[in-house]
Amino acid sequence: MEYYFAPMEGVTGSEFRRVHHKYFPGVDAYYMPFISPTQDHVFTQRELRNILPENNQGFRAVPQLLTKNAENFLWAARELAAMGYDEINFNLGCPSATVTSKGKGAGLLSNPEFLYQLLGEIYEKAPVKISIKTRLGMEQPEEFERLLDVFQNYPVSLLIIHPRVRQDFYQHPIRMEYFEKAVQQYPGAICFNGGLKTVEDCATLEKQYPKIQSMMIGQGLLSNPALIQQLKGLSGLEKKQLMAFHDTLFQTYLETFKSERNTVFHMKELWSYLMGLFEGAEKPWKKIRKAVDGAGYESGVQEMFGLPFK
Ligand SMILES: Cc1cc2nc3c(=O)[nH]c(=O)nc-3n(C[C@H](O)[C@H](O)[C@H](O)COP(=O)(O)O)c2cc1C
Repeated sequence: MEYYFAPMEGVTGSEFRRVHHKYFPGVDAYYMPFISPTQDHVFTQRELRNILPENNQGFRAVPQLLTKNAENFLWAARELAAMGYDEINFNLGCPSATVTSKGKGAGLLSNPEFLYQLLGEIYEKAPVKISIKTRLGMEQPEEFERLLDVFQNYPVSLLIIHPRVRQDFYQHPIRMEYFEKAVQQYPGAICFNGGLKTVEDCATLEKQYPKIQSMMIGQGLLSNPALIQQLKGLSGLEKKQLMAFHDTLFQTYLETFKSERNTVFHMKELWSYLMGLFEGAEKPWKKIRKAVDGAGYESGVQEMFGLPFK
């Protein structure tokens, strides 16, 4: 079984990936948060920081593109191939209204005929493998049958299925019955994504669907950064290791953003997941959440690390 880190815009950028890999090696691939290539055919500085190979050394990283324009997709794909990437992921799952209203991300799922044409143009000229990360549909999970027919026309290197529709965002329970149907119907390689939080969750899924060769984990890995190590039979999370990870990430953000405020903002999002590890985390979490500078933040963090793990 291969285990992948899910792309998470605003959280799993190149700084995070480097520091995570340093303290918790073993992730089979980090899928990068999406970049949206435009008709200008230039990457922004922020995008370059995310994708430059020198910022992604020592681990496998897969860039992700979000667009509905084949020409812009292919421009970015060629640039990324020239940098040495051998797989590019196509985002068909982003549920954000600003994205779907422009017919991108999960918005593409509402028009299978257009998607068929678009994928035709992309796969005809793609310089490297193209994998797809998709939801079941825009409104109804029944849409997935038709979408699977579309995908089957192309050499999709890996179909990563997040078994929710766009309308579900991230709250609705995972729709396993539709994932099950997809496993029966779709002949290509499938990766499961959604709601995996523990070693037991992954073991149950593996037993249920022995055909699946990979799983993608997002929030579960933010809540327990050592989860993939545990899945590979190594020891569980230790507080010392988590502290070292935390401190290095904080310093790395500080050096990158050159702003305490921005660094604290990024760390808060991570703590919204990590706090679940600690017994009685409410009080220090409130301190961390309210912090606006490094000093207030560090005082909350010190208190948090003084608590026992659950
Ligand atoms: C804050 C946040 C940012 C995300 N950014 C992306 C993204 O850039 N590309 C993408 O394909 N999915 C993105 N996702 C979706 C995740 O990759 C994943 O599909 C989702 O969280 C469900 O998996 P999980 O339950 O293991 O977290 C994002 C999710 C969250 C919560």
